[in-house]
Amino acid sequence: MDKKVHINLQRVPQHVAIIMDGNGRWAKGKGMNRVFGHKNALTAVRESVESAAEIGVKAITLYAFSTENWKRPKLEVDALMSLLVSSLKKELNTFQKNGVVVNAIGNIESLPTKAQKVLKEVIDITKNNDKITLTLALSYGAREEIVNTIKNISKKVVNKELSIEEINENTINNHLYTFNLPDVDLMIRTSGEYRISNFLLWQMAYAELYFTEVLWPDFRKEHFFDAIIDYQNRERRFGKTSEQITE
Ligand code: IPE
Ligand code: IPE
Ligand code: MG
Repeated sequence: MDKKVHINLQRVPQHVAIIMDGNGRWAKGKGMNRVFGHKNALTAVRESVESAAEIGVKAITLYAFSTENWKRPKLEVDALMSLLVSSLKKELNTFQKNGVVVNAIGNIESLPTKAQKVLKEVIDITKNNDKITLTLALSYGAREEIVNTIKNISKKVVNKELSIEEINENTINNHLYTFNLPDVDLMIRTSGEYRISNFLLWQMAYAELYFTEVLWPDFRKEHFFDAIIDYQNRERRFGKTSEQITE
């Protein structure tokens, strides 16, 4: 994969988040039903995690199911939930081989019991790996996460464990589902949709955004590396002037 030689290994994003979109359209393009698209999404997941690990990305977060995705037809939701279970089982060996720590964010209790069980097992088995953290956003919505955060902080205030004056940005960070992850440096969305769809709103405050027309089931290492190269050509100013960054 010669694209990799164009990557500056000193300037790799720490945290990459991906909105894996376009499974339904990919399947439709092949005259198949939407579930066929979801079934063919696993290679893209594997290649993204592998390529991230290869260049030293420390955290990769994949948007797998949103709080809004519960509104889809029951048949599709059920298929996605059973694919989650079978994929986790299937990938466990690869996670172990590649040093992947599996983590989950979202309203996990709303997932079917079976999915929760397998997820807990995989999280437990992989917890001592140390190469890369793969966070699966499942029944995740950033607004739901913020509501949950406010509730947990409020409880501490009511119990006098925390005063209102003490609340700062770190307090919020530490109460989000992503408390153990750095801010998102690069957000990739496939399938030519230019929106955030309720993903990591707080954590993406200063992320670089990268959009590609590639549909998720077709996403491969070369596409991931293209996004990294694009990221490395950006100037992240964080409010400062260009001169302040380069001097
Ligand atoms: C992404 O593909 C997978 C999930 C949201 C679960 P879609 O299922 O959204 O595919 P399109 O966007 O309809 O093509
Ligand atoms: C976002 O994709 C959610 C996931 C990728 C899991 P959607 O396909 O659900 O997003 P919208 O509804 O088109 O914005
Ligand atoms: Mg979609």
